[in-house]
Amino acid sequence: RCKDFLKDLLLISEDRFIVVNDHETLSLGDKTLEFILAPWVHWPETMFTYLREDKILFTCDFLGSHLATSDLVIADETKVYEAAKRYYAEIMMPFRKIIKKHLEKIRDLEIETIAPSHGPIYNRPEFILNAYKEWISDDVKNEVVIPYISMHGSTDKMVHYFVDVLIEKGITVKPFNLTKTDIGELAVALVDAATIVIASPMVLAGAHPNIVCATYLVNALKPKLKFACIIGSYGWGGKMVKQIKEMLTNLKVEILKPVVIKGYPKEEDFKSLNILADEIFKKHEKLGLIV
Ligand SMILES: Cc1cc2nc3c(=O)[nH]c(=O)nc-3n(C[C@H](O)[C@H](O)[C@H](O)COP(=O)(O)O)c2cc1C
Repeated sequence: RCKDFLKDLLLISEDRFIVVNDHETLSLGDKTLEFILAPWVHWPETMFTYLREDKILFTCDFLGSHLATSDLVIADETKVYEAAKRYYAEIMMPFRKIIKKHLEKIRDLEIETIAPSHGPIYNRPEFILNAYKEWISDDVKNEVVIPYISMHGSTDKMVHYFVDVLIEKGITVKPFNLTKTDIGELAVALVDAATIVIASPMVLAGAHPNIVCATYLVNALKPKLKFACIIGSYGWGGKMVKQIKEMLTNLKVEILKPVVIKGYPKEEDFKSLNILADEIFKKHEKLGLIV
């Protein structure tokens, strides 16, 4: 597969290839390279290379970070953690199940250094391996992510009210106003969250286009969310709820009863939001997320 890609993308000629199989080795004299097939993290032909004598694992895109730094080796773990989590969220998250298998495959390798093709080299392999183990685990956190947008302030009012109610219940809330959100930040929030609440006004009989775009991304990234819900405001009618639900087919979520109101939120609408917040609290409690 790699050969085909290199021929297609870089126009490398047939005579320059040696094709290797899983665990095959190549001696460079005093150094031995072992090749470990690890497809789909994130290209289909991904392969790790283990330099036996120096115990270095070259992981290709896997375990990388989008961090342009003059430090060849990791200097600030906190900074790299954030960049690596964002890289995972934006690029690797859909391959969570595959990553589990690959981590298993390299479990018994003695690794002193991990050198991905993006971002700095890890001289403490357990730093990035443990981070990945947490991100790909089935465990979710007591967090609600709310991508939202509002044209005239109704959905905005609902979201602000809802955020306060959830916080009062001890739930961590991450609202993202899509008029100014860095969509990568939204992706990062999806790594751990138990619940997503998508908040949109009705526009041209459906969800707001920015919400459609964000929902598409959420579905494509396949986060380990457990619950999803739709809230928002409409003027006369439309199919926003159906449209958003139908866009979430990749997610294994329970969809909670939506709160879609007419116009600006009134007393009974706030009550509906209270009920939804109660339900989310109970769902999180049942999962053991609230102690
Ligand atoms: C461009 C535009 C298109 C709209 N299309 C619809 C529609 O198709 N169906 C509907 O029920 N309301 C529609 N509305 C009305 C809004 O959904 C309604 O005013 C809602 O309360 C706006 O929520 P917001 O204040 O959060 O923006 C539209 C409003 C605008 C500005």
